[in-house]
Amino acid sequence: MTAVPPLAFELPDTIAALSLRAFEFSGRACKEAEAIIAQQPDALFRRLLRDQESEAALLVARRVIDAFLRQRTADVAAADPTAGDLRDDASADRIAAHVAGTGAELAATIGSLRDIEPDTRDAVVRQRAPIGLLGGCWLDVLSQPATQPSVIVNRLYAQHFAQRGQGNPHRSLHYLRRRQMEDVGVYLPEIGAADFLARAGARPLTAVHGSFYLALSRLPANFLPELVGVHYAFHALGVDDLLSGMTPMLAEPALRDLLAAYLELAGPAERRRLHAGIRLVLALECEHVAMLAELAAWQHGLSLESKVAAIVARHAPFAGAQHQGVRVGDRLLTDTFSDPGLDIAEFLREFREARQLRRSRDGLSRFVRAIKFGGPMFGIFDDREAAIFQAWVEAVQGGERPEIVICANTVGDAEAAARASAIAASAPADVVIADAGTPSDRELFYRLVNIENHANTLPLAADRAAGVFAAAEILFTCGAGGRYTDASYFDYSPQALYERAERVYWEKLVRPYQPLEEIPDRDEVVFLQTTYALGALVDATWIHRVANLGRFERQCDAALFSIYADEMGHGDLRKNHITLIHLALRSMNIALPHIRDAAFLDQADLPDELYGFSLHQLCMALFPDTYFSEILGYNLAIEMFGLGELRLHEIQKLRHYGFDDCYEQAHLTIDNISAGHSRQAADIIVSYLDEVRRALGDAAVQREWRRVWRGYASLAYFVEHALLKQVTTGQVATEPAWAGPVMTEQVLTEEEPVSLII
Ligand SMILES: [Fe+2]
Ligand SMILES: [Fe+2]
Repeated sequence: MTAVPPLAFELPDTIAALSLRAFEFSGRACKEAEAIIAQQPDALFRRLLRDQESEAALLVARRVIDAFLRQRTADVAAADPTAGDLRDDASADRIAAHVAGTGAELAATIGSLRDIEPDTRDAVVRQRAPIGLLGGCWLDVLSQPATQPSVIVNRLYAQHFAQRGQGNPHRSLHYLRRRQMEDVGVYLPEIGAADFLARAGARPLTAVHGSFYLALSRLPANFLPELVGVHYAFHALGVDDLLSGMTPMLAEPALRDLLAAYLELAGPAERRRLHAGIRLVLALECEHVAMLAELAAWQHGLSLESKVAAIVARHAPFAGAQHQGVRVGDRLLTDTFSDPGLDIAEFLREFREARQLRRSRDGLSRFVRAIKFGGPMFGIFDDREAAIFQAWVEAVQGGERPEIVICANTVGDAEAAARASAIAASAPADVVIADAGTPSDRELFYRLVNIENHANTLPLAADRAAGVFAAAEILFTCGAGGRYTDASYFDYSPQALYERAERVYWEKLVRPYQPLEEIPDRDEVVFLQTTYALGALVDATWIHRVANLGRFERQCDAALFSIYADEMGHGDLRKNHITLIHLALRSMNIALPHIRDAAFLDQADLPDELYGFSLHQLCMALFPDTYFSEILGYNLAIEMFGLGELRLHEIQKLRHYGFDDCYEQAHLTIDNISAGHSRQAADIIVSYLDEVRRALGDAAVQREWRRVWRGYASLAYFVEHALLKQVTTGQVATEPAWAGPVMTEQVLTEEEPVSLII
């Protein structure tokens, strides 16, 4: 063994912040980010929500965070009399009292928004929905290779797990909030749906606020101190709970405990950053609640004419040539509605005098008959709109001719414009334009672990993942000869998949097992464990970005989330697999820097040739949408790989020398094929492909299945060295499709058939 490096990582992981680092982006991403930021706030919101893979989205996130934190200190603080109340060294109780003070002020306003007339209440509930439904998203990927097994990250993860309904979407905070809204008659599409913001009637300010929380969810590791502040203040204020009357899922004492735990770890700089997060949320929530109150007042004060005008404004752009020869006044409706300078007040003035509104013998009017069942405009307006029209027509027929003054909804627009221009002007000093170049495997590993700071490496990661998946298809034809896997292709049916998994388990993993008669010497045992460590240190990485906001609706998403949560011990460090591997390494006196630290670039314990496997895992993980299918197959392969002979031999060797076998033991049980992760992994594939079948039909199932199975084969590609050696030496006829730096001759030896364990 080499000497213990000076910067060896020691448990517990007490970081309160990652070390400050630059954020590297390519010149191309800068241009793309500029274009995204130039769009309207709703487009910004949608992009940040939907795009969790691109470099440009991460740069947008960096700029949005910068703008909000900067604007808060520069402008808003000056206008906020409570801003100076808290000192940076305030205790958790003091912070809690301060937040509660703001909460009490907000509670009065929110209380006034609860028992109001239905239309106004509806508008308020809809307006708040985007913020309420994304609350907590900042924890989505906080748990990642760079932050595990941090004490504070796991405390937060435990709360994340609770908010996610412990893996059951229907018990999650997100769904409980939706149900609460539905109870008061507000039905909205899923938050990731194209028309979500439109159906919520989201004002630009709501979209801009939402963009901040989404931005934080994209760079959570680098903004851990601010995030802890945001998390505490947002949930302790509990605007959404106050508005809906729901019992908070995270009680304030539990939030305060976490805050106190953080303060114990934080130095002065981290405390300052924590306070910046708290102050920002207080300002944002005050601003949003004030906007809700303003919206309620606007909605409440709307005249019947203004309500009708709003309906006309909403539908006019879609009227097209539908009205053909119909005239109101002396003008064709087709011309009126295609006029970019349409004056709706003037139109309504003419319309109320038009023959279409005159009372007919049946007591109605041509217009009202047209929008009823059987009429040419039936179905254009929803029930609420039709009722408003009908009330207006009756008033007109009754002779009412009030002055038509249309009061446009500009609620929150000034604040939104200020925040949007702060985002447009933001140029964080820590953003660096840099080309990714051609990093070595070590360098690439470091960058992928710290991907928030090295987003310019994303295109390389995408290419690399694509290359491995393509190369792995070689095993579709010769995979049956694998020692631990069978990646040979077969047509999908649930039964065929379960049968394949069972057969691999019994024939390749369990039956060959015989206890070792001879234990290798101590150095050899330690060395082999060292080679396994690189994979173990990124355990579960392949699924650490799945099931995030907008992607937690399907059964397969929830099941993947649950597997990852198991791997992280549900936030309990004693059960966290990254903790377990560190304990095991420590028992063998193997001391490594943390993989997030630059010192890891120089670690001398782990051979360079072994990086390929971990790199593949990190690469696919960064593309949870693009490679969702492949990830499912990989998940099955790797969960199964933890079973049987290999693991049992390792346990025997470790016990022989008195080393800690907790990591191996944990996997032997949790990954089991009867109900554990291996079985769940197969069930997830079946569930996902069933979703595909229902949405797109059988042909699409076989297409996706091929991708799933590429994912399985890509694990085999790193494991079946002997088989691949036969291929490369021509003993098996097929040639690899891709010759990237995945494997080297040193690894491809028959004497050492496998070089990783997860
Ligand atoms: Fe694990
Ligand atoms: Fe597992």
